[in-house]
Amino acid sequence: MSLCKRRGFVYPGSEIYGGFQGFYDFGPLGVEMKNNLKKLWWNWMTVQHEDIVGIDGAIITNPKVWEASGHVKSFTDPLSECKKCHHRFKVDDLKDKKCPDCGGELTEPKQFNILVPTQLGVIEGEKTDAYLRGEACQTIYLDFKNVLDTSRLKIPFGICQIGKAFRNEVTPGNFLFRQREFEQWDLQWFTHPAEMEKWFEFWKGERMNWYKSLFTHPENLGFHKHEKLAHYAKQAYDIIYTNSPCEIEEVEGIHWRGDWDLSRHSEYSGQDLSYTDPETKEKFIPQIVETSGGVDRMFLFLLIDAYAEEEDRIVLKLNSKVAPYKVAVFPLLRNKPELVEKAREVYQDLKKYFSVVWDDRGNIGKRYYAQDEIGTPYCVTVDFESLEDKAVTVRDRDTMKQERIKIGDLASYFADKLELPC
Ligand code: GAP
Repeated sequence: MSLCKRRGFVYPGSEIYGGFQGFYDFGPLGVEMKNNLKKLWWNWMTVQHEDIVGIDGAIITNPKVWEASGHVKSFTDPLSECKKCHHRFKVDDLKDKKCPDCGGELTEPKQFNILVPTQLGVIEGEKTDAYLRGEACQTIYLDFKNVLDTSRLKIPFGICQIGKAFRNEVTPGNFLFRQREFEQWDLQWFTHPAEMEKWFEFWKGERMNWYKSLFTHPENLGFHKHEKLAHYAKQAYDIIYTNSPCEIEEVEGIHWRGDWDLSRHSEYSGQDLSYTDPETKEKFIPQIVETSGGVDRMFLFLLIDAYAEEEDRIVLKLNSKVAPYKVAVFPLLRNKPELVEKAREVYQDLKKYFSVVWDDRGNIGKRYYAQDEIGTPYCVTVDFESLEDKAVTVRDRDTMKQERIKIGDLASYFADKLELPC
Protein backbone atom coordinates (compact mmCIF):
# COMPACT_ATOMS: atom_id res chain seq x y z
CA MET A 1 0.00 0.00 0.00
CA SER A 2 2.83 2.36 0.83
CA LEU A 3 4.57 1.68 -2.49
CA CYS A 4 1.27 2.23 -4.30
CA LYS A 5 0.86 5.65 -2.72
CA ARG A 6 4.55 6.67 -2.92
CA ARG A 7 4.98 5.77 -6.58
CA GLY A 8 1.56 6.89 -7.86
CA PHE A 9 -0.27 3.60 -8.38
CA VAL A 10 -3.20 4.11 -6.00
CA TYR A 11 -4.28 6.95 -3.69
CA PRO A 12 -6.99 6.88 -0.99
CA GLY A 13 -10.14 8.52 -2.42
CA SER A 14 -10.87 12.12 -1.25
CA GLU A 15 -7.69 11.99 0.80
CA ILE A 16 -7.47 15.75 1.49
CA TYR A 17 -10.83 15.45 3.29
CA GLY A 18 -9.66 12.52 5.38
CA GLY A 19 -10.61 9.86 2.81
CA PHE A 20 -13.89 8.02 2.25
CA GLN A 21 -13.99 4.36 3.20
CA GLY A 22 -14.12 1.93 0.29
CA PHE A 23 -13.11 4.42 -2.43
CA TYR A 24 -9.72 4.72 -4.17
CA ASP A 25 -8.20 6.69 -7.06
CA PHE A 26 -5.71 5.27 -9.52
CA GLY A 27 -2.66 7.51 -10.01
CA PRO A 28 -0.51 8.00 -13.14
CA LEU A 29 1.14 4.55 -12.94
CA GLY A 30 -1.98 2.80 -11.67
CA VAL A 31 -4.14 4.00 -14.54
CA GLU A 32 -1.52 2.83 -17.09
CA MET A 33 -1.38 -0.60 -15.50
CA LYS A 34 -5.15 -0.88 -15.14
CA ASN A 35 -5.66 0.16 -18.77
CA ASN A 36 -3.12 -2.48 -19.84
CA LEU A 37 -5.08 -5.12 -17.95
CA LYS A 38 -8.39 -4.06 -19.45
CA LYS A 39 -6.92 -3.98 -22.97
CA LEU A 40 -5.47 -7.47 -22.50
CA TRP A 41 -8.79 -8.81 -21.25
CA TRP A 42 -10.81 -7.10 -23.99
CA ASN A 43 -8.47 -8.27 -26.72
CA TRP A 44 -8.47 -11.85 -25.42
CA MET A 45 -12.29 -11.91 -25.20
CA THR A 46 -13.32 -10.18 -28.40
CA VAL A 47 -10.40 -10.46 -30.82
CA GLN A 48 -9.35 -13.99 -29.87
CA HIS A 49 -12.92 -15.38 -29.71
CA GLU A 50 -14.96 -14.80 -32.85
CA ASP A 51 -18.18 -15.79 -31.04
CA ILE A 52 -17.89 -13.08 -28.35
CA VAL A 53 -18.89 -9.43 -28.76
CA GLY A 54 -18.74 -6.57 -26.29
CA ILE A 55 -21.10 -3.90 -24.98
CA ASP A 56 -20.77 -0.88 -22.69
CA GLY A 57 -23.98 -0.57 -20.73
CA ALA A 58 -25.40 2.22 -18.56
CA ILE A 59 -24.62 2.28 -14.86
CA ILE A 60 -28.16 3.40 -13.97
CA THR A 61 -30.97 1.24 -15.29
CA ASN A 62 -34.70 1.08 -14.88
CA PRO A 63 -35.10 0.20 -11.15
CA LYS A 64 -37.30 -2.81 -12.07
CA VAL A 65 -34.09 -4.50 -13.27
CA TRP A 66 -33.02 -5.00 -9.65
CA GLU A 67 -36.36 -6.47 -8.65
CA ALA A 68 -36.13 -8.94 -11.52
CA SER A 69 -32.50 -9.73 -10.72
CA GLY A 70 -33.42 -10.68 -7.17
CA HIS A 71 -31.16 -8.08 -5.58
CA VAL A 72 -34.00 -6.10 -3.96
CA LYS A 73 -35.77 -9.11 -2.45
CA SER A 74 -32.69 -11.12 -1.52
CA PHE A 75 -31.48 -8.45 0.82
CA THR A 76 -34.57 -7.55 2.79
CA ASP A 77 -34.24 -10.19 5.54
CA PRO A 78 -32.21 -9.26 8.63
CA LEU A 79 -28.76 -10.76 8.12
CA SER A 80 -25.50 -10.99 10.04
CA GLU A 81 -22.26 -10.77 8.12
CA CYS A 82 -19.05 -12.53 9.15
CA LYS A 83 -16.33 -9.91 9.64
CA LYS A 84 -13.72 -12.45 8.46
CA CYS A 85 -15.10 -14.32 5.43
CA HIS A 86 -17.95 -11.85 4.65
CA HIS A 87 -20.55 -14.62 4.24
CA ARG A 88 -24.01 -13.51 5.29
CA PHE A 89 -26.54 -15.56 7.25
CA LYS A 90 -30.23 -15.17 8.01
CA VAL A 91 -30.50 -14.46 11.72
CA ASP A 92 -33.12 -17.21 12.13
CA ASP A 93 -30.67 -19.80 10.77
CA LEU A 94 -27.89 -18.97 13.23
CA LYS A 95 -27.39 -21.30 16.20
CA ASP A 96 -24.68 -19.23 17.97
CA LYS A 97 -22.83 -15.93 17.59
CA LYS A 98 -19.94 -17.31 15.49
CA CYS A 99 -19.77 -17.68 11.70
CA PRO A 100 -20.86 -21.22 10.76
CA ASP A 101 -18.33 -21.24 7.89
CA CYS A 102 -15.11 -19.96 9.49
CA GLY A 103 -15.85 -19.28 13.16
CA GLY A 104 -15.33 -15.50 12.66
CA GLU A 105 -17.11 -12.75 14.57
CA LEU A 106 -20.55 -11.73 13.20
CA THR A 107 -21.94 -8.21 12.80
CA GLU A 108 -25.15 -7.23 14.56
CA PRO A 109 -28.19 -8.32 12.49
CA LYS A 110 -29.06 -5.66 9.94
CA GLN A 111 -31.47 -5.06 7.13
CA PHE A 112 -28.92 -5.43 4.35
CA ASN A 113 -29.31 -4.00 0.91
CA ILE A 114 -26.09 -3.89 -1.03
CA LEU A 115 -27.57 -1.74 -3.80
CA VAL A 116 -26.50 1.91 -3.77
CA PRO A 117 -29.65 4.04 -4.18
CA THR A 118 -29.74 7.30 -6.07
CA GLN A 119 -32.42 9.78 -7.11
CA LEU A 120 -33.08 11.27 -10.52
CA GLY A 121 -34.95 14.47 -11.33
CA VAL A 122 -34.59 18.11 -10.33
CA ILE A 123 -37.83 18.83 -8.46
CA GLU A 124 -37.83 17.94 -4.76
CA GLY A 125 -40.67 15.57 -3.95
CA GLU A 126 -40.91 14.37 -7.55
CA LYS A 127 -37.62 12.53 -7.80
CA THR A 128 -37.44 8.99 -9.13
CA ASP A 129 -35.60 6.41 -7.05
CA ALA A 130 -33.06 4.29 -8.88
CA TYR A 131 -29.91 2.26 -8.12
CA LEU A 132 -26.33 2.32 -9.31
CA ARG A 133 -25.75 -1.13 -10.75
CA GLY A 134 -24.78 -3.70 -8.13
CA GLU A 135 -23.25 -6.03 -10.72
CA ALA A 136 -22.21 -5.10 -14.22
CA CYS A 137 -23.66 -8.25 -15.84
CA GLN A 138 -27.31 -7.13 -15.64
CA THR A 139 -26.95 -4.78 -18.62
CA ILE A 140 -25.76 -7.73 -20.70
CA TYR A 141 -29.05 -9.54 -20.06
CA LEU A 142 -30.97 -6.36 -20.89
CA ASP A 143 -29.15 -6.14 -24.24
CA PHE A 144 -29.30 -9.86 -25.06
CA LYS A 145 -32.15 -9.50 -27.56
CA ASN A 146 -30.67 -6.34 -29.12
CA VAL A 147 -27.31 -8.01 -29.67
CA LEU A 148 -28.97 -11.09 -31.12
CA ASP A 149 -31.12 -9.00 -33.49
CA THR A 150 -28.23 -6.79 -34.64
CA SER A 151 -25.51 -9.40 -35.13
CA ARG A 152 -25.16 -12.72 -36.91
CA LEU A 153 -24.40 -14.62 -33.74
CA LYS A 154 -25.99 -17.98 -33.06
CA ILE A 155 -26.06 -19.88 -29.80
CA PRO A 156 -23.59 -20.66 -28.28
CA PHE A 157 -22.13 -17.16 -28.10
CA GLY A 158 -20.92 -14.64 -25.55
CA ILE A 159 -21.38 -10.98 -24.66
CA CYS A 160 -18.67 -9.35 -22.59
CA GLN A 161 -18.33 -6.05 -20.77
CA ILE A 162 -15.94 -4.14 -18.54
CA GLY A 163 -17.67 -1.70 -16.23
CA LYS A 164 -18.14 -0.17 -12.83
CA ALA A 165 -20.28 -1.74 -10.12
CA PHE A 166 -21.29 -0.23 -6.78
CA ARG A 167 -22.09 -1.98 -3.53
CA ASN A 168 -22.94 -0.82 -0.07
CA GLU A 169 -20.45 -3.29 1.41
CA VAL A 170 -21.03 -3.64 5.13
CA THR A 171 -17.35 -4.14 5.83
CA PRO A 172 -15.30 -2.51 3.06
CA GLY A 173 -11.57 -2.93 3.58
CA ASN A 174 -8.36 -4.71 2.70
CA PHE A 175 -7.34 -1.89 0.36
CA LEU A 176 -8.66 -2.54 -3.18
CA PHE A 177 -10.03 -5.94 -2.23
CA ARG A 178 -13.44 -4.85 -0.96
CA GLN A 179 -14.48 -1.42 -2.20
CA ARG A 180 -17.81 0.32 -2.59
CA GLU A 181 -17.02 1.33 -6.18
CA PHE A 182 -15.07 -1.14 -8.29
CA GLU A 183 -14.73 -2.46 -11.81
CA GLN A 184 -15.78 -5.87 -13.13
CA TRP A 185 -14.98 -7.76 -16.32
CA ASP A 186 -17.74 -10.14 -17.24
CA LEU A 187 -18.44 -12.70 -19.88
CA GLN A 188 -21.99 -14.03 -20.18
CA TRP A 189 -21.96 -17.13 -22.35
CA PHE A 190 -25.37 -18.18 -23.74
CA THR A 191 -25.82 -21.86 -24.42
CA HIS A 192 -28.38 -24.60 -25.09
CA PRO A 193 -29.38 -26.25 -21.76
CA ALA A 194 -27.98 -29.61 -22.92
CA GLU A 195 -24.52 -28.07 -23.34
CA MET A 196 -24.38 -26.14 -20.08
CA GLU A 197 -22.06 -28.51 -18.26
CA LYS A 198 -19.61 -28.72 -21.17
CA TRP A 199 -19.30 -24.93 -21.43
CA PHE A 200 -19.06 -24.46 -17.68
CA GLU A 201 -15.98 -26.72 -17.62
CA PHE A 202 -14.59 -25.08 -20.76
CA TRP A 203 -14.75 -21.54 -19.34
CA LYS A 204 -13.34 -22.62 -15.98
CA GLY A 205 -10.25 -23.87 -17.82
CA GLU A 206 -9.98 -20.96 -20.24
CA ARG A 207 -10.18 -18.30 -17.56
CA MET A 208 -7.66 -20.04 -15.32
CA ASN A 209 -5.21 -20.24 -18.26
CA TRP A 210 -5.65 -16.53 -18.92
CA TYR A 211 -4.86 -15.57 -15.34
CA LYS A 212 -1.90 -17.96 -15.23
CA SER A 213 -0.43 -16.35 -18.33
CA LEU A 214 -0.15 -12.98 -16.52
CA PHE A 215 0.85 -13.76 -12.93
CA THR A 216 4.53 -13.83 -11.96
CA HIS A 217 3.92 -16.98 -9.87
CA PRO A 218 1.03 -18.83 -11.59
CA GLU A 219 1.36 -21.62 -9.02
CA ASN A 220 -0.34 -19.21 -6.56
CA LEU A 221 -3.65 -19.53 -8.43
CA GLY A 222 -6.24 -22.20 -7.68
CA PHE A 223 -9.96 -23.05 -7.66
CA HIS A 224 -12.35 -22.89 -4.75
CA LYS A 225 -15.74 -24.62 -5.04
CA HIS A 226 -18.65 -22.73 -3.48
CA GLU A 227 -20.81 -24.72 -1.09
CA LYS A 228 -23.15 -21.78 -0.37
CA LEU A 229 -24.59 -20.44 -3.62
CA ALA A 230 -25.94 -17.00 -4.55
CA HIS A 231 -29.67 -16.86 -5.29
CA TYR A 232 -29.08 -17.32 -9.04
CA ALA A 233 -26.27 -19.88 -9.08
CA LYS A 234 -26.49 -23.64 -9.66
CA GLN A 235 -22.72 -24.24 -9.39
CA ALA A 236 -19.95 -21.79 -8.66
CA TYR A 237 -16.17 -21.84 -8.51
CA ASP A 238 -13.80 -19.03 -7.63
CA ILE A 239 -10.41 -18.52 -9.18
CA ILE A 240 -8.40 -17.68 -6.07
CA TYR A 241 -5.02 -16.17 -5.34
CA THR A 242 -3.59 -18.28 -2.54
CA ASN A 243 -0.71 -16.04 -1.48
CA SER A 244 -2.94 -13.17 -0.44
CA PRO A 245 -2.67 -11.44 2.92
CA CYS A 246 -6.47 -10.88 2.75
CA GLU A 247 -8.83 -13.37 4.34
CA ILE A 248 -10.66 -14.26 1.12
CA GLU A 249 -8.74 -14.47 -2.10
CA GLU A 250 -11.36 -14.55 -4.88
CA VAL A 251 -10.23 -12.94 -8.13
CA GLU A 252 -13.02 -14.18 -10.38
CA GLY A 253 -16.20 -16.20 -10.05
CA ILE A 254 -17.28 -18.80 -12.62
CA HIS A 255 -21.03 -19.13 -12.18
CA TRP A 256 -23.59 -21.53 -13.60
CA ARG A 257 -26.49 -19.09 -13.73
CA GLY A 258 -28.83 -21.40 -15.66
CA ASP A 259 -31.89 -19.66 -17.11
CA TRP A 260 -32.52 -17.53 -13.99
CA ASP A 261 -31.63 -14.16 -15.49
CA LEU A 262 -33.34 -14.34 -18.89
CA SER A 263 -36.44 -16.01 -17.38
CA ARG A 264 -36.75 -13.35 -14.69
CA HIS A 265 -36.23 -10.47 -17.10
CA SER A 266 -38.79 -12.03 -19.49
CA GLU A 267 -41.28 -12.26 -16.63
CA TYR A 268 -40.71 -8.75 -15.24
CA SER A 269 -40.44 -6.93 -18.57
CA GLY A 270 -43.13 -8.88 -20.42
CA GLN A 271 -40.70 -9.33 -23.34
CA ASP A 272 -39.96 -12.76 -24.76
CA LEU A 273 -36.23 -13.38 -24.25
CA SER A 274 -36.25 -16.94 -25.57
CA TYR A 275 -34.17 -18.08 -28.51
CA THR A 276 -35.31 -20.04 -31.55
CA ASP A 277 -32.69 -22.22 -33.18
CA PRO A 278 -32.63 -21.18 -36.87
CA GLU A 279 -32.09 -24.78 -38.05
CA THR A 280 -34.08 -27.01 -35.68
CA LYS A 281 -36.68 -24.30 -34.82
CA GLU A 282 -36.40 -25.40 -31.20
CA LYS A 283 -37.41 -22.56 -28.85
CA PHE A 284 -35.72 -22.31 -25.45
CA ILE A 285 -34.45 -19.90 -22.81
CA PRO A 286 -30.65 -19.97 -23.13
CA GLN A 287 -28.65 -20.98 -20.07
CA ILE A 288 -25.77 -18.82 -18.95
CA VAL A 289 -22.21 -19.48 -17.86
CA GLU A 290 -20.82 -16.34 -16.27
CA THR A 291 -17.17 -15.48 -15.71
CA SER A 292 -17.13 -12.38 -13.51
CA GLY A 293 -13.84 -10.96 -12.30
CA GLY A 294 -12.67 -7.89 -10.44
CA VAL A 295 -10.27 -5.64 -12.34
CA ASP A 296 -9.14 -4.02 -9.07
CA ARG A 297 -8.57 -7.37 -7.37
CA MET A 298 -6.50 -8.64 -10.30
CA PHE A 299 -4.52 -5.37 -10.07
CA LEU A 300 -3.97 -5.85 -6.33
CA PHE A 301 -2.98 -9.51 -6.55
CA LEU A 302 -0.63 -8.89 -9.50
CA LEU A 303 1.23 -6.30 -7.42
CA ILE A 304 1.43 -8.61 -4.40
CA ASP A 305 2.60 -11.45 -6.62
CA ALA A 306 5.25 -9.37 -8.38
CA TYR A 307 6.64 -7.63 -5.28
CA ALA A 308 10.09 -8.82 -4.19
CA GLU A 309 12.59 -7.45 -1.71
CA GLU A 310 16.10 -8.35 -2.83
CA GLU A 311 19.48 -7.54 -1.26
CA ASP A 312 19.64 -3.86 -2.15
CA ARG A 313 16.46 -3.23 -4.09
CA ILE A 314 12.69 -3.55 -4.17
CA VAL A 315 11.50 -4.90 -7.50
CA LEU A 316 8.09 -5.44 -9.06
CA LYS A 317 8.59 -8.44 -11.33
CA LEU A 318 5.44 -7.63 -13.30
CA ASN A 319 4.72 -9.36 -16.59
CA SER A 320 5.92 -6.85 -19.20
CA LYS A 321 2.45 -6.79 -20.82
CA VAL A 322 1.06 -5.42 -17.56
CA ALA A 323 3.89 -3.08 -16.48
CA PRO A 324 2.97 0.65 -16.65
CA TYR A 325 6.10 1.46 -18.68
CA LYS A 326 7.95 -1.00 -20.89
CA VAL A 327 11.23 0.91 -21.25
CA ALA A 328 12.98 3.77 -19.39
CA VAL A 329 15.51 5.94 -21.25
CA PHE A 330 18.32 7.85 -19.49
CA PRO A 331 21.24 10.05 -20.51
CA LEU A 332 24.25 8.96 -18.42
CA LEU A 333 24.69 12.56 -17.22
CA ARG A 334 21.98 15.21 -17.29
CA ASN A 335 24.41 18.13 -17.58
CA LYS A 336 25.97 16.95 -20.89
CA PRO A 337 23.77 18.39 -23.68
CA GLU A 338 25.18 16.00 -26.33
CA LEU A 339 24.12 12.96 -24.20
CA VAL A 340 20.72 14.47 -23.41
CA GLU A 341 20.10 15.22 -27.09
CA LYS A 342 20.98 11.67 -28.20
CA ALA A 343 18.94 10.14 -25.37
CA ARG A 344 15.91 12.34 -26.30
CA GLU A 345 16.18 11.04 -29.89
CA VAL A 346 16.11 7.44 -28.63
CA TYR A 347 13.20 8.24 -26.30
CA GLN A 348 11.15 9.98 -29.02
CA ASP A 349 11.72 7.10 -31.42
CA LEU A 350 10.80 4.30 -28.98
CA LYS A 351 7.71 6.24 -27.83
CA LYS A 352 6.19 5.60 -31.27
CA TYR A 353 5.95 1.90 -30.42
CA PHE A 354 5.88 1.40 -26.65
CA SER A 355 5.01 3.12 -23.41
CA VAL A 356 8.40 4.68 -22.57
CA VAL A 357 9.42 6.90 -19.66
CA TRP A 358 12.21 9.50 -19.51
CA ASP A 359 14.35 9.77 -16.38
CA ASP A 360 17.37 12.01 -15.78
CA ARG A 361 17.20 12.48 -12.00
CA GLY A 362 20.03 11.41 -9.65
CA ASN A 363 22.67 8.90 -10.65
CA ILE A 364 22.23 5.76 -12.76
CA GLY A 365 22.02 3.49 -9.69
CA LYS A 366 19.12 5.52 -8.27
CA ARG A 367 17.33 5.50 -11.61
CA TYR A 368 17.63 1.71 -11.87
CA TYR A 369 16.30 1.43 -8.32
CA ALA A 370 13.34 3.70 -9.10
CA GLN A 371 12.45 1.81 -12.30
CA ASP A 372 12.76 -1.61 -10.59
CA GLU A 373 10.34 -0.43 -7.94
CA ILE A 374 7.65 0.37 -10.52
CA GLY A 375 8.29 -2.76 -12.59
CA THR A 376 9.82 -1.24 -15.78
CA PRO A 377 11.25 -4.30 -17.60
CA TYR A 378 14.10 -2.51 -19.46
CA CYS A 379 16.32 0.54 -18.97
CA VAL A 380 18.33 2.15 -21.77
CA THR A 381 21.37 4.32 -21.00
CA VAL A 382 22.94 6.65 -23.53
CA ASP A 383 26.63 7.22 -22.63
CA PHE A 384 29.68 8.84 -24.25
CA GLU A 385 30.43 5.67 -26.23
CA SER A 386 26.92 5.86 -27.74
CA LEU A 387 27.99 9.02 -29.60
CA GLU A 388 30.75 7.00 -31.28
CA ASP A 389 29.38 3.46 -31.74
CA LYS A 390 25.65 4.38 -32.11
CA ALA A 391 24.80 1.76 -29.47
CA VAL A 392 23.29 1.95 -25.96
CA THR A 393 23.34 -0.14 -22.78
CA VAL A 394 20.13 -2.11 -22.19
CA ARG A 395 19.59 -3.45 -18.67
CA ASP A 396 17.12 -6.24 -17.88
CA ARG A 397 15.04 -5.66 -14.70
CA ASP A 398 14.94 -9.29 -13.55
CA THR A 399 18.44 -10.55 -14.37
CA MET A 400 20.09 -7.09 -14.02
CA LYS A 401 22.28 -8.16 -16.96
CA GLN A 402 23.39 -5.46 -19.38
CA GLU A 403 24.07 -5.67 -23.11
CA ARG A 404 25.00 -3.25 -25.89
CA ILE A 405 22.38 -2.83 -28.62
CA LYS A 406 22.65 -0.69 -31.76
CA ILE A 407 20.24 2.27 -31.60
CA GLY A 408 18.81 1.35 -35.00
CA ASP A 409 17.92 -2.16 -33.72
CA LEU A 410 16.29 -1.08 -30.44
CA ALA A 411 12.64 -1.01 -31.58
CA SER A 412 12.72 -4.52 -33.04
CA TYR A 413 14.85 -5.76 -30.09
CA PHE A 414 12.14 -4.63 -27.62
CA ALA A 415 9.24 -5.73 -29.83
CA ASP A 416 10.77 -9.20 -29.72
CA LYS A 417 11.49 -9.16 -25.98
CA LEU A 418 8.08 -7.72 -25.08
CA GLU A 419 6.23 -9.96 -27.57
CA LEU A 420 4.52 -6.87 -28.99
CA PRO A 421 3.97 -5.98 -32.63
CA CYS A 422 6.39 -3.31 -33.82
N1 GAP B 1 -22.21 -10.94 -11.62
C1 GAP B 1 -21.68 -11.79 -10.62
C2 GAP B 1 -20.97 -11.07 -9.58
O1 GAP B 1 -21.00 -9.85 -9.50
P1 GAP B 1 -19.38 -11.47 -7.53
O2 GAP B 1 -18.67 -12.72 -7.11
O3 GAP B 1 -20.20 -10.76 -6.51
O4 GAP B 1 -20.27 -11.90 -8.78
C3 GAP B 1 -17.51 -10.77 -9.21
O5 GAP B 1 -18.37 -10.41 -8.15
C4 GAP B 1 -16.12 -10.24 -8.96
O6 GAP B 1 -16.16 -8.84 -8.68
C5 GAP B 1 -15.42 -10.87 -7.73
O7 GAP B 1 -14.77 -12.06 -8.07
C6 GAP B 1 -14.44 -9.79 -7.34
O8 GAP B 1 -13.23 -9.93 -8.07
C7 GAP B 1 -15.13 -8.50 -7.77
N2 GAP B 1 -15.73 -7.85 -6.58
C8 GAP B 1 -16.89 -8.15 -5.98
N3 GAP B 1 -17.13 -7.32 -4.95
C9 GAP B 1 -16.07 -6.47 -4.89
C10 GAP B 1 -15.72 -5.36 -4.05
N4 GAP B 1 -16.52 -4.97 -3.09
N5 GAP B 1 -14.55 -4.71 -4.29
C11 GAP B 1 -13.73 -5.10 -5.30
N6 GAP B 1 -14.02 -6.13 -6.12
C12 GAP B 1 -15.17 -6.81 -5.93
